[in-house]
Formats: sequence, structure tokens, C-alpha cells
Amino acid sequence: MKATDLLKKQHKQVKALFKKVDKTENPRERRQLMDQIEQELKMHTKIEEQIFYPAVRGIDSKKAEEMYMEALEEHHVVDLVLAELPKVDPADERFHAKMTVLSELVEHHADEEEDEMFPMCEKKLGKERLQELGAQMEMMAGGQRRAA
Ligand SMILES: [Fe+2]
Ligand SMILES: [Fe+2]
Repeated sequence: MKATDLLKKQHKQVKALFKKVDKTENPRERRQLMDQIEQELKMHTKIEEQIFYPAVRGIDSKKAEEMYMEALEEHHVVDLVLAELPKVDPADERFHAKMTVLSELVEHHADEEEDEMFPMCEKKLGKERLQELGAQMEMMAGGQRRAA
């Protein structure tokens, strides 16, 4: 699968988890979904940072460099929120607000990737290179899942 298609698929999976967590008031389910969101996001940002973003950075343009830098900063903010999750009480009245803010943050970031970064990569890196990167990413994601 092309790297960009694989990443879009993962974006969809995380968005679906946010929808689910939004619909339940059961603290145990909330905790479980929150843990799942955390795992998926960590795996996703890791394969982007280790495999996909270096290829983006390799595109010799100012725009690519700017996108890369901005994406890293956004991952950093996501990490800050994720680090708080173990302390979040799923029965707390602020739970819903917290999940909404994280969800909006992730959605904004994923939209920018899909609307700007990925089209640029399709154009500049080409199908073959994207397939290659996709294969590397699948290997890494598979290894992570087995280890977890
Ligand atoms: Fe990202
Ligand atoms: Fe992403």
C-alpha cells in the first residue's frame, strides 16, 4: 500500500475511536478507548517521524521544510496531551471536553497532512517510492503491534 494511503487509513481509524469515546459515558469503556487512542496515535506519529517525514524533508523545497517543521510541532503538542491521559479520570465531568480538544487537535493535523503534505508527496516522490515507504511502515507497525 502507498505510504499516504496507509497513513490516511490510520487517520480514519483514530477518528472512529474518537467518535466512539464521545458516545459512551461508561468509565471503563472510556478508559479502554482512551488507551487505544493513545496506542494508535503513538504508533502513527512514530512511523511518520521515523519513515515518512524524513522522505518529506528530502523533497528539496522551502514549503516541504515548513510543513515538516510544523508537523513535528503538532506531534509535540499531541504528545503533551497524551502524557496527561493516565491521570485523566474517565468519570470526571471534564472528560468529554478533554477528548474533544484532543480530537480537534488530531483532526486539524491529519487534515493538513491529507490536504497539503500528502498531495505534495504524491507529486514529488512518485508512486514507487510511496509504495516502498508504505512497505517499511507496515513492517514497523506490525512489529509494534506484536511487541505490545
Ligand atoms: Fe502527523
Ligand atoms: Fe498523520
